[in-house]
Amino acid sequence: MNLTPNIKQHFPALANSDYVYLDSASSCQSPIQVINAISEYLIQGHGNPHRGMYNFSENAENLLNECRNKVANFINASPEQIIFTKSTTESLNLVAQSFREKLNEGDTLITSEMEHHANLLPWQRLQNLCGVRLKYIPINSAAELDTSELESDLADNCKLLTICHASNLLGTENPVEDIIRLAQARGVPVVIDGAQMVAHHKVDVKALNCDYYAFSAHKMYGPAGIGVLYAKDPNTLSPLLLGGGIVSRVSKDKYSLLSGSQRFEAGTPNMLGVAGFSAALDFVNQFQIAELNSYNQELIETTRGAIEQNGFKIISHPKSSNIVSFVHETFHSHDIATILSANNIAVRAGHHCAQPCLNALGYKQCVRVSTGSYNSMSDIERFSKALSLVSEHLL
Ligand code: ALA
Repeated sequence: MNLTPNIKQHFPALANSDYVYLDSASSCQSPIQVINAISEYLIQGHGNPHRGMYNFSENAENLLNECRNKVANFINASPEQIIFTKSTTESLNLVAQSFREKLNEGDTLITSEMEHHANLLPWQRLQNLCGVRLKYIPINSAAELDTSELESDLADNCKLLTICHASNLLGTENPVEDIIRLAQARGVPVVIDGAQMVAHHKVDVKALNCDYYAFSAHKMYGPAGIGVLYAKDPNTLSPLLLGGGIVSRVSKDKYSLLSGSQRFEAGTPNMLGVAGFSAALDFVNQFQIAELNSYNQELIETTRGAIEQNGFKIISHPKSSNIVSFVHETFHSHDIATILSANNIAVRAGHHCAQPCLNALGYKQCVRVSTGSYNSMSDIERFSKALSLVSEHLL
């Protein structure tokens, strides 16, 4: 499919509407294909997979398997390495809780100052539960990670490294290949939070050689409520939830778990999420991801120009393909976002669930513009005009 401004016509929430949506890093809108797939699933008959010898259940199981295969192809993994969760947050918590059993007092975990809270709190909890020490790769003034101390930190009894592939606040795309290589050389497992990356760059988990990779459907035009954890070896993890659908045998005092990804998916799966995610993958697969990326980059460059012309300071990475974050020395980000919203423009403002990241740069809040494939140059012109009204309102 050619990328033209008409792509917006596939998105009912935005097509023929005056609304300019610039908060896709938080959550994307869904195309009609995703919406139809969810309603068609219900119209054709919902079933509980793995639990019925009748059509509705068997169809649901086929859909679940098909979606797992599509996810695996999308990131170059095997289906047995794909675990469905409810979100990136749940995926990261699953890994953290599994590592709880492997860690001892005095062990270190490495993360970075760039993480959003989903990739901080699960590890911070391990400090209290297991007595591990958390070390942070610092952010430098170029909005990049300063990895100069990384080799010595890895050598300091490090048991795991966890880092975002791209920052939700700065849009920085981290050199995870180099970081993974250094960690693997020390035998340190690596978790990558890919929530902000998968919709913008081709991800190949085999080439990356990471141990775990987490992401969500709603950041790639699918529904919220379904996420993925890729595990190179799922046997290194324990399920976060226990219950039906994950066991081969249960007696009054013990149980045996199934092998593979199925033993992590206790309870009835989110089949509406599966139907929508599967359609979202088909939608994204119509494009070359590189083409999506360069289209977004053009929009972002124009956005950066508009922000600077209007007297705001950009704090995000200059090469981000989909994010620009900015501050004003006197106006609060919530006031700026409220004025933009009064002009039908949606952006995110505040701390962006990345308080240590903002604090490291000396800020408490900022405004973030983030684009998706449905945005057009005229959306950016509308944003620019509305931004020029902010000073009029606030001065
Ligand atoms: N992590 C999401 C964001 O950055 C929610 O907005």
